[in-house]
Amino acid sequence: MESVGIDAIEIRPGKLRLDLAETFAPALDEAPEKYTEGLGLYASSFPDIHEDIVTMGANAAHRLMERKDLEPADIGRIDVATESAFDNSKPVSTYVAGCLEQVFAGDFHHANKGERKFACISGTQSLDDAYNWIKAGRSRGRAALVIATDTALYARGDAGEATQGAGAVAMLIDEEPAVVEMSQAQGYGSADETDFLKPNQQFPSVDGKRSVQVYLARMREALEDYEGVAGDTHPDDFRYIPFHTPFPGMVRKAALLGYRHVARGTDVEDGLAARIGRQPRRDDFDDEAAYEGAVREHMDALSGTDEYRDWFGRTIEPTLDVARHVGNWYTGSVHIARASALRRAREEGFDAAGERLLVGSYGSGAQAEIHAETVQEGWNEEIEALNLGDQLAARYDMSFAEYEQVHDAHNHAVETEIEGFTEPDGEFVFDGRGPMDERTYRFV
Ligand code: COA
Repeated sequence: MESVGIDAIEIRPGKLRLDLAETFAPALDEAPEKYTEGLGLYASSFPDIHEDIVTMGANAAHRLMERKDLEPADIGRIDVATESAFDNSKPVSTYVAGCLEQVFAGDFHHANKGERKFACISGTQSLDDAYNWIKAGRSRGRAALVIATDTALYARGDAGEATQGAGAVAMLIDEEPAVVEMSQAQGYGSADETDFLKPNQQFPSVDGKRSVQVYLARMREALEDYEGVAGDTHPDDFRYIPFHTPFPGMVRKAALLGYRHVARGTDVEDGLAARIGRQPRRDDFDDEAAYEGAVREHMDALSGTDEYRDWFGRTIEPTLDVARHVGNWYTGSVHIARASALRRAREEGFDAAGERLLVGSYGSGAQAEIHAETVQEGWNEEIEALNLGDQLAARYDMSFAEYEQVHDAHNHAVETEIEGFTEPDGEFVFDGRGPMDERTYRFV
């Protein structure tokens, strides 16, 4: 078997938009710069009244299957990664399959279906499951459909409200993929943490500041583990580094830490030494506090160097283009970052085939995973087929009062009856509830 990886991608944002600088910040009496500069966010995407994790996932998968001329018999498994599930037993993938069976001839009765949970990292874990299933020779020549879908809504007034978002990423995992081949080597950083939880509740309990620290600690651990199997890395080894992006400001912190790590002991550190000194080494300090102080000082100096800024602009910035306008999609966020980088490569006329990506996924609770990917010849055609720009431009721009109504409409604890803001057309919609209180869907 030559290679396994992502053969096709479809992205489906929620059809509503909340402008963070113009609409949200003034209503909360906050500076717009907290969003545009601090968090690095301009807007969030929200689900309209007829949308939810099933419709967004099914609509992404529908377009993917139509575009790739697939029928249900071509798909051997459907895995949905989400942290917004509404049922503790029946997986979202069965609802998605039910939707797709409304429009395609045939059925998914012989496809394995499941739901993956580990906060935001479960999208990547589902890619792994599909990769392993194909590599183990169990796929019978069929592809896997992985769908990362979330409504990342926080309780009104929670600090996380600033980073909300909603959308789905559908990915086809197959042999001889068109977009990226995934590496066999991977590294993990995992520990029992309580930074973000939803103990049988719709909106998360979050220790936001702590979650930022846990993200960085686990990511560093994962990078060390990855280097343990793949060998030392150098800042120039990877053309793009898509990270899990709860908000771009988080990636700014992770990127600086990652750069310091991969530059250590290389010609990059040698070149910087005359200007900012060599990186502090733990063994050169008597106590932890002095060492940490020296590291902070070094990181500040490093962040201002041309070397770091150029590297960030080239390797990281392109991964953030989409996140800045859609917010956090939890399980889908790192997969948006990959697509965002490839969209930028296309816009700039850069031939990315053969280039390597280092993909840094993270889920609270907490676990980070790092693996490499190699861009394949078919990437350009696949990215050209994405209609993400059109979907983003077509979103309905909510006023603050409308945002409040929409948040209530998606809140399971609030009874509301409001009309949608967009007209469904050629898509699956949430249609009400069946006899066992199950959610029902139809194609409009
Ligand atoms: N101009 C420029 N920057 C500004 C600013 C202004 N007027 N006001 C604030 N900022 C900056 C802050 O300095 C901060 O940046 P820094 O962390 O680099 O210093 C950033 O904007 C956010 O401001 P802060 O006051 O920390 O925001 P907050 O108290 O609302 O909390 C989160 C931010 C991320 C903790 C919060 O949104 C959250 O809990 N999110 C959900 C959890 C999450 O996403 N965790 C990430 C790991 S998974």
